[in-house]
Amino acid sequence: MAHRHYFRVTLLSISLIAFILIVIILYARHKSTIQTTPGPTVPLLCQSPVCISAGMALKANLNESVDPCHDFYAFACGGWEASHTLPDDKMWYNNFNILDDNVSHSMRMSLSKNWSTSDSNAVTYASDLYKACIDEETRNARGVTPLIEMLNTVGSWPILGQSGGYNETEFDWKDAFVKHVIISKSSPVFALSVSGDSMNSLVNRIHFSRPTDFRGSGLHRSHFLNPHDYINYFRGYVKYMLQSALLLGAEYSTQTKIDIDNIVEFETKLAQLSQTGVFYEKVSFKMFNEMTDNSVDWMNITNTVYKELNETIRMKSDDLVIVEDNCYYMNVTQLLTTTPNRVIANYFGWKLVMNLGSHTTKQFRDIRFKFYQLFTEVEKDVELWRSCTASISSQLPYVLSLLYVDQHFT
Ligand SMILES: *[C@@H]1O[C@H](CO)[C@@H](O)[C@H](O)[C@H]1NC(C)=O
Ligand SMILES: *[C@@H]1O[C@H](CO)[C@@H](O)[C@H](O)[C@H]1NC(C)=O
Ligand SMILES: *[C@@H]1O[C@H](CO)[C@@H](O)[C@H](O)[C@H]1NC(C)=O
Ligand SMILES: *[C@@H]1O[C@H](CO)[C@@H](O)[C@H](O)[C@H]1NC(C)=O
Ligand SMILES: *[C@@H]1O[C@H](CO)[C@@H](O)[C@H](O)[C@H]1NC(C)=O
Ligand SMILES: *[C@@H]1O[C@H](CO)[C@@H](O)[C@H](O)[C@H]1NC(C)=O
Ligand SMILES: *[C@@H]1O[C@H](CO)[C@@H](O)[C@H](O)[C@H]1NC(C)=O
Repeated sequence: MAHRHYFRVTLLSISLIAFILIVIILYARHKSTIQTTPGPTVPLLCQSPVCISAGMALKANLNESVDPCHDFYAFACGGWEASHTLPDDKMWYNNFNILDDNVSHSMRMSLSKNWSTSDSNAVTYASDLYKACIDEETRNARGVTPLIEMLNTVGSWPILGQSGGYNETEFDWKDAFVKHVIISKSSPVFALSVSGDSMNSLVNRIHFSRPTDFRGSGLHRSHFLNPHDYINYFRGYVKYMLQSALLLGAEYSTQTKIDIDNIVEFETKLAQLSQTGVFYEKVSFKMFNEMTDNSVDWMNITNTVYKELNETIRMKSDDLVIVEDNCYYMNVTQLLTTTPNRVIANYFGWKLVMNLGSHTTKQFRDIRFKFYQLFTEVEKDVELWRSCTASISSQLPYVLSLLYVDQHFT
């Protein structure tokens, strides 16, 4: 609770300060236009309808019966607190949430419509995706089978036991990495992307970077670096991993527990190797390979991944790439050569399960929410339609923008 209150206080204060600044700026601009206009004197008052309604909204959020010198928070936010309740699924609530909520409802209506084949493909795909996403019944009926099939395509998850077809001697982390990137879009250990060269914005280049942590999906680097300060989080994390594995068919056994401990240990090592700053190193593939003792063929990895997009894409060994943190790449490739395959395969599999598990059953979402709750202290998971709208909006932003504009600007 203490956390939520703290967030509310800071957020409200920030919103309030921003609002006051905007009012001051608008007032100053208003004043300067008045002063440069010759003619009858206009009183320097807020009189336009927009200004009046903004002023009233601001006033309604205050509690003017409180002395600001005595309790500024109660004075500045008392009105807001009296007229709004913090929703069960949120850590904070402010004006932006209200606007956001309005947009979400409008997206929900558009996506739920029955579009015809004469409508844009992009719109019908987004709508189909939404309808599949909120179809809890079908999702629960299919269970975790689609996730297990995906794990088997990328090289299986050893923690699940023999059935997965994992073969210790055949496993190669480079092959597995490529499959993860192509099939599951999850990027364990390393991340590659295309974006502008920050030293020459006219050129796009392939960037090799560290994968980013997403909030609510696992623990953070800072937790792994100070495990003793976050014992509760670690307990929750191990539980989350164990329950996920059991749900997918793992046995409740000593081996399973050892596997989980090894994953956590491996993640801790990765976090320790992520402590260097992010640098910019522009090198050829040839030099990049040398940097990692020629133990990895980065050009081959790149070509195999991008071939999926277009058969004709072929990098050459003197093509330049940007390595954002060369120390990380050097140290982690070394770590990968000394870590048992089973541990690597288990870690890769866990990353996939963590990213995609909540797209399966309600049971899975509940497990994930229990873990998420440790950090956020929210009381309720977001409703399915909201998480579906949010996820489609982040994956297909242009389609949703189109729908919104069509609905509101015609
Ligand atoms: C304003 O503050 C006073 C004194 O603390 C309190 O009694 C009153 O309920 C508050 N009003 C609102 C609308 O919050
Ligand atoms: C969003 O807000 C606008 C303006 O206040 C209102 O007209 C509209 O009905 C709202 N839409 C939804 C879906 O709540
Ligand atoms: C869309 O079509 C389905 C099946 O044909 C029907 O059950 C549903 O009520 C329709 N929805 C709307 C919003 O028209
Ligand atoms: C694993 O792969 C090796 C080499 O391909 C093969 O000889 C071995 O039989 C396989 N092991 C299992 C358990 O399938
Ligand atoms: C290139 O990468 C693919 C996929 O990882 C692998 O199967 C192949 O053996 C690699 N080829 C070379 C020359 O390294
Ligand atoms: C990683 O590698 C760099 C250079 O190879 C080395 O200086 C550094 O100490 C290593 N970092 C860790 C945490 O091992
Ligand atoms: C693949 O790339 C080539 C060369 O850039 C381009 O001409 C071609 O249209 C691309 N093909 C597809 C299917 O995008």
